[in-house]
Amino acid sequence: MADLRTSFAGLELKNPLIVSSSGLTNSAAKNKKWEEAGAAAVVLKSVFEEQILLHAGQMENYGHTEGDDYMVQYVRNHQLNETISLIRDTKEQCSIPVIASINCHSDSEWGEYAALFEQAGADALEINILSLRTARDYQAGSFQQMHVNVLKQVIKDIKIPVVVKLGSNLTAPVAMADRLSAHGAAGIVLFNRFYQPDIDIEKLEYTSGNVFSSPADLYNGLRWTAILSSKLPNFPVALSGGVHDGDAMVKALLAGASAVQVCSAIYQQGPDVITKMLDRVAAWQESKGFASLAAYRGRMNASAVGGEELFERTQFMRYYSSKAE
Ligand SMILES: Cc1cc2nc3c(=O)[nH]c(=O)nc-3n(C[C@H](O)[C@H](O)[C@H](O)COP(=O)(O)O)c2cc1C
Repeated sequence: MADLRTSFAGLELKNPLIVSSSGLTNSAAKNKKWEEAGAAAVVLKSVFEEQILLHAGQMENYGHTEGDDYMVQYVRNHQLNETISLIRDTKEQCSIPVIASINCHSDSEWGEYAALFEQAGADALEINILSLRTARDYQAGSFQQMHVNVLKQVIKDIKIPVVVKLGSNLTAPVAMADRLSAHGAAGIVLFNRFYQPDIDIEKLEYTSGNVFSSPADLYNGLRWTAILSSKLPNFPVALSGGVHDGDAMVKALLAGASAVQVCSAIYQQGPDVITKMLDRVAAWQESKGFASLAAYRGRMNASAVGGEELFERTQFMRYYSSKAE
């Protein structure tokens, strides 16, 4: 059997396939199923700050006008208890690392919750700051600063590794990653997937666009993985987005990813896709004569192929010159 071992953010993994945070990972029974199919780790369904505030707001509308803070606290505790049970149950049933996840868009009291997740047995924590900035008076750089503030809040009382999952809307992911690394993040996940609004032109209504990614969604993550792994070689990257088969996994690893996170492909194809993807990576690795994953990880990152230019202007020019012929 090919040696697919890797490490990501201080976690020793039997292979690079992590099931990413979603409804796929909201029960211990499901997590057990992914483990049996071969997954090396799971990121649990996130606790959503947005949801907590929304629920608290709804309760307020039902007449609980006094003690708003109490309501927010009540809903928060309820959601936190659910996550704590999920961590405990998954740790009981699975032997792979379990990564808890917080989805937040403000720098509130996440530190307290991070400590509870650590106590419940989480092996690592992923913080996910997916948010759009639409204010006219937005101050350049404040969104990036919020990432750092949230990380500082979360990290201060815990010892487990903390990973930051970025949205793809940041101007300069390398500078962001550098700051996060300097403030103690153990790794980075590129990228989260935004809700995609679409318009039904018959009903004149907004609808949800594709919930799931397609294989073509791989390329942006691939580009930034190749650049980041060359600029910050000691800051591990997990690529998330558009990893639908073993070939995409190989590409992510060659670009320098330490791991991949997979979601849509599992929703669409079930647990077997995990096994198929791992078999494909193993077969490819053997066919190329690589004794281990470490022998080729990052072999095609930006510095290995002559610098970032390839990921910027050159490819663009080449494409158009070949089309013009
Ligand atoms: C139905 C669904 C639910 C998701 N829920 C979460 C979540 O709770 N927290 C999170 O960080 N990401 C969530 N995501 C994003 C995924 O973890 C993943 O980053 C994204 O879908 C890109 O990976 P993919 O191309 O393999 O789907 C969700 C994605 C989908 C499709």
